Formats: sequence, structure tokens, C-alpha cells
Amino acid sequence: MTQPSGRVLQRLVTGPTLVSRVSWFDRIGSTNAEVTRRATGGAESGLLVLADEQTAGRGRQGRSWSAPAGTSLMGSLLLRTDRDLALVALLPLLVGVALAEACEPFVSGAELSLKWPNDLLADGRKCAGVLVEVPAPGVVVVGMGVNVDWRGVERPEQLAAATSLSEVGRGPVDRWRLLPALVERVDRRHSGWCEDPAAFLPAYRERCATLGRAVRVEQAGGTALMGTATGVTDGGALVVETDAGTTVDLSAGEVHHLRHR
Ligand code: BTN
Repeated sequence: MTQPSGRVLQRLVTGPTLVSRVSWFDRIGSTNAEVTRRATGGAESGLLVLADEQTAGRGRQGRSWSAPAGTSLMGSLLLRTDRDLALVALLPLLVGVALAEACEPFVSGAELSLKWPNDLLADGRKCAGVLVEVPAPGVVVVGMGVNVDWRGVERPEQLAAATSLSEVGRGPVDRWRLLPALVERVDRRHSGWCEDPAAFLPAYRERCATLGRAVRVEQAGGTALMGTATGVTDGGALVVETDAGTTVDLSAGEVHHLRHR
């Protein structure tokens, strides 16, 4: 089915839930852009915009995000908050944990882990990503893209290493069953963050496949550093002991796990 049923969408906003309103699009530029646009117009916290296809999907580090129609779960959630930016900076990691927890029951047999900050890996291959944007003070847009069923889908070169939930588990995954599970996990983790923002970090560190790994980190401006990832700080930064003998805390960058060095 290319579209969630009215019942599935209704369930997302029924009861005490983080989601206050849902909009579905068969095709849109970017759900993050749409939520940002509506936030500027005064939309309330909890707006969730979902789409089957994006023509200008955004990824982290200025990359694009593309997925063929019918294969993925893509959506963006508007959160309004008066928390400090330093605490908002934990949200990308927190949503990564929620994503892993939501997907796990659907892929028994596969190992779900996180590549810092929030790439979801299934048996080491990327199957979902999170893009959190703060377009204005107090406005947080949480974008999530999950490769649900890419079986038989021809992939462009740059996605050759990616996988989808239906390819790693014991059977096809129904995205309209995954959707409420995902919203429920994000809701629960978000409530935890409201009470104690750093409380989820032990769960994050446990899932983080980057810890203990030899890494190459590409940073803004084109520089790269090599080293070993040794920790995640309480502020969400990745601690790397570099091959040059220094220790650095990184709050941004593209991490590559290295096999051999
Ligand atoms: C990444 O680069 O790993 C993050 C990808 C985030 C993609 C999602 S899909 C729904 C939402 N809308 C966007 O334009 N991007 C995010």
C-alpha cells in the first residue's frame, strides 16, 4: 500500500501522544522543509509530516536523501522547546536510540546498532538516518528516513552499501505497522528527555557501534582525522583519540568505521 490507512494515521494522534496532527503526502520536496515552513506559520508542536516520496530530501552534512516511492518510511516531527541548545543537541542521538528500539522487533536475527551520531545500522549496513534541524530558536525539526523494503530495488552507486529492514530480518516489514511503533518509541524517549535529558545516554553508548572502533572523521572544511573512538560525552560529542596522539571531542562530522589500519 502506498498510503497509510486513515485508521493508522488516526491512531497516531489519539490519546496522550507527542503527535498532535499528521499530514500525508504522496510526494513532496522534503518533509523537513515542509515542517519548517509550517513552523514559521505558527504550527503547533507535534505536527508530523509523512511522505511516500521526496524530490529534494535532505540528509546530514548537506547531502541529499533519496528513496524510491513505496520503499521507505519518511517523516518529520515538529518539536517546540525552551530547553538550551546544548540539551537540544542530544536529540539526534536520542532519536537514533528510539529508531533502533522501534525497528528491533521487526528484524529478529539482525543486529541493530548506531554509527555516531545517529545512522541506524543493521548488521553493519545503514538502513535509516536522522536529520535534526533547528531552523529558529525553540523550533526543532526531527526528520527520519527508514529504508523499510528495498528488495528488488535497483540502487544507485552511492547507496550500494545500504540495506533495508526487509532484507536483514526474517521477512518483509510492513511500514504501516512500523510507523506507530516508531512514534511510540520517539514519544517515550522524548518524555524521558523532558524529565532528565541525559538519562538515555547509557542506552545510546550501549548501541553505539562506533565506540572502540578505528575511525576516519571527515570534518567541515574538508579536513579529516584518524583515530580511535573512545567515548561519547554527556553533551553527545564523540571522543576520538587521534593517531597524532591528541584527544578531541567532536560535535559534528562524518564518521567512517575502518576495518583495518
Ligand atoms: C542522514 O543523512 O542520514 C539523515 C537522513 C534523514 C532523511 C529524512 S527523510 C525525512 C526527512 N526529510 C528530509 O528531507 N530528510 C529527513
